[in-house]
Amino acid sequence: METRLVFLLAALLATALLEYKPVLPTPASEADHSVAGVFETGNFHPIQSDVGTASSCSPPRSLLIVRPEEKGTYPVILFHHGTGCQNSWYTDVFKFISSHGYIVVAPQLYGLMPPSGQDELDLAAEVANWLPSGLRCVLPEDIEGDMHNLALAGHSRGGYIAFALALGLADVSLDVDFSALIGVDPVAGTSKTNQMEPKILNYESCSFNFSIPVAIIGTGLGNKSAFPILPQTCAPDGVSHTEIFNECKPPCSHFVTSDYGHMDVLDDDIGPIGELARAMCKGSRRGVSRDPMRRTVGGVSVAFLEAFFKGNYTDYNKILQKSNYFAPTTLDPVQNKSEGTSSSSLSAMSMPATLDWHIDEL
Ligand SMILES: *[C@@H]1O[C@H](CO)[C@@H](O)[C@H](O)[C@H]1NC(C)=O
Ligand SMILES: *[C@@H]1O[C@H](CO)[C@@H](O)[C@H](O)[C@H]1NC(C)=O
Ligand SMILES: *[C@@H]1O[C@H](CO)[C@@H](O)[C@H](O)[C@H]1NC(C)=O
Ligand SMILES: *[C@@H]1O[C@H](CO)[C@@H](O)[C@H](O)[C@H]1NC(C)=O
Repeated sequence: METRLVFLLAALLATALLEYKPVLPTPASEADHSVAGVFETGNFHPIQSDVGTASSCSPPRSLLIVRPEEKGTYPVILFHHGTGCQNSWYTDVFKFISSHGYIVVAPQLYGLMPPSGQDELDLAAEVANWLPSGLRCVLPEDIEGDMHNLALAGHSRGGYIAFALALGLADVSLDVDFSALIGVDPVAGTSKTNQMEPKILNYESCSFNFSIPVAIIGTGLGNKSAFPILPQTCAPDGVSHTEIFNECKPPCSHFVTSDYGHMDVLDDDIGPIGELARAMCKGSRRGVSRDPMRRTVGGVSVAFLEAFFKGNYTDYNKILQKSNYFAPTTLDPVQNKSEGTSSSSLSAMSMPATLDWHIDEL
């Protein structure tokens, strides 16, 4: 053990000495400062509200809505929670995204026990169909949801729901068009042979039959088990972010938060049931703040939507090219499938490892 440590330290030192490129990032140029902005809280003031099914605007499911206080027209993100999760457990991420000028609508699709995949999908489609008139009804006069800039998003099983909706697998026909898709550690089943129904994966690259841009944020610890004696993981290989990325068509990007797990995107304060759910999944080490994970998910989402909704690719491309310089967590790998090409032109854009990264690897 000790010998190994000494060896590793020696190796590390040698690497540091031999490396002719600087190991630590070079200082930011003037122009680079702005990109950090997407990983910091934005300038809008988020306001959250719960809209129950009994409200006069009668959404098909109860909703958590987080939107800017300032008047304006904002893109809308329809976000689907994970298995047995409450929509309120994502409040920090929703507020973060909303502070950049977005309206987040998060239905509570069911209580603790999930319905069948098809039933959940159909409920999700009903909520989506409610959005144009429903948001008008719910929001104040001077605040509007921009239905031409509507994104689908979801975490875990909710990520599966988002992809399944985009694939048109709901039995309820959709009256709205989605223009972007964000998967946060999406999971499409418990194993390759036990996929959620209706199935979304067929293990062929670039086979998803939709062409909206996609960003997938996976976790590095999602496929590790929380307890050494149990093989089950929260985001099993074969049905998780890696395969979902494999099957999406360009434009599609993939970011993996190496040091964080499946439930680390949730708020810190999620109550005893939330804590129990969180304990089932391997997460960041005790004492490690989850705030960088939430800001990474929020910031990547914002940069992605600024690119594809507003045509401003500045931050998105910077993160793709130099993620570990800009993002508050280690992102490895970072991949981008480019337009008009097969997945063979997939580019991996991992940064040269930083010193921090080496130490974590020990
Ligand atoms: C893909 O989607 C298009 C348009 O929605 C449809 O016409 C086509 O049949 C689909 N292809 C497959 C293989 O499902
Ligand atoms: C987990 O996922 C990573 C990629 O994120 C992969 O390299 C690794 O082989 C997977 N499986 C295990 C058991 O770690
Ligand atoms: C694009 O985004 C960058 C970074 O947030 C910002 O500095 C720049 O002003 C934006 N460009 C336009 C044309 O809005
Ligand atoms: C990533 O892919 C998108 C869309 O396919 C492309 O517009 C963009 O230039 C790529 N970004 C980088 C940094 O390669």
